[in-house]
Amino acid sequence: MAAPRSPRPVVVVTRRLPALVEAQVAAEFDARLNPDDHAFSAAELSAALGSADALLPTVTDRLTAAVLAAQPLRTRILANYGVGFNHIDTAAAQARGVVVTNTPDVLTDDTADDAVMLMLMVARRAGEGERHVRAGAWTGWRPTHLLGTRVSGKTLGLIGLGRIGRAVAQRARHGFGMRVVFHDPYPPPAGVVAELGAEPRASVDDVLREADFVSIHSPATPDTHHLLDARRLALMKPGAFLINTARGDIVDEAALVAALKRKTIAGAALDVYEREPEVPRDLLALEQVVLLPHLGSATNETRVAMGLRALENLRAFFAGLPPRDRVA
Ligand code: DGY
Repeated sequence: MAAPRSPRPVVVVTRRLPALVEAQVAAEFDARLNPDDHAFSAAELSAALGSADALLPTVTDRLTAAVLAAQPLRTRILANYGVGFNHIDTAAAQARGVVVTNTPDVLTDDTADDAVMLMLMVARRAGEGERHVRAGAWTGWRPTHLLGTRVSGKTLGLIGLGRIGRAVAQRARHGFGMRVVFHDPYPPPAGVVAELGAEPRASVDDVLREADFVSIHSPATPDTHHLLDARRLALMKPGAFLINTARGDIVDEAALVAALKRKTIAGAALDVYEREPEVPRDLLALEQVVLLPHLGSATNETRVAMGLRALENLRAFFAGLPPRDRVA
């Protein structure tokens, strides 16, 4: 005999969340948590879609068309924990009547901080310096030791001027006196751009030709897949650095490795990768590269705020109201 349905909506939470968030989800819903924090397989995701009213997934859950073809389908909403939702086939979700929401705004500042941190780290060779000290190799101060590149007053090129791009522009302008140029096919209103002191460029290529630091802040879509390919990387100045806190597949990783090896660009600082958690061996071997494990939003404050925002979307949906952050 089938188990009787719980009166409260069943919510599958696919990864461990901050304790406060898990407690709140469990207080409001029939929460199915993931105490060992393993990444769900496609089969587990399909099973969850068949047994839960809602999923609270993350970037590690590949909700492809095949997974979303689950039969039976009980899930009516995917309340994604994160602003990026390229791991969800939104067209397939829509076709099956499944609502998708995300968690914008709350992670803007921390992700912008992450991009600025990476810019400083790669320019000032912080990763190399840290490895040097930890290896016990430091013999003392000397005028020619580990010389990096100045950041202040240089030109920052932003690929995308959405919420996070704007927060980076603000930090760069007001914190480091940088000139900021950008390209965005859907730019913010002229008043916002003027207030930021950012200068629009007609194309990504124009930004790449001009910038000392290039930072990516576009969503991952079919249009931005490998946006930074071999041709575009070749447009960057030989002394320029690439920073990516957006999504790995916006950069052709093999082409980036080739550019770094040939030293046609000076370095790269990456928080995201094409096939996470896989990081190409070639990148690991290069000193002029800073590599972080997708930490953009990784502060206690923001990870709690993301959970509460996903919860807000679930609460609205099950109260029959339009969820604030519906993306499909
Ligand atoms: C985001 O919010 O998009 C982060 O990259 C985690 O998914």
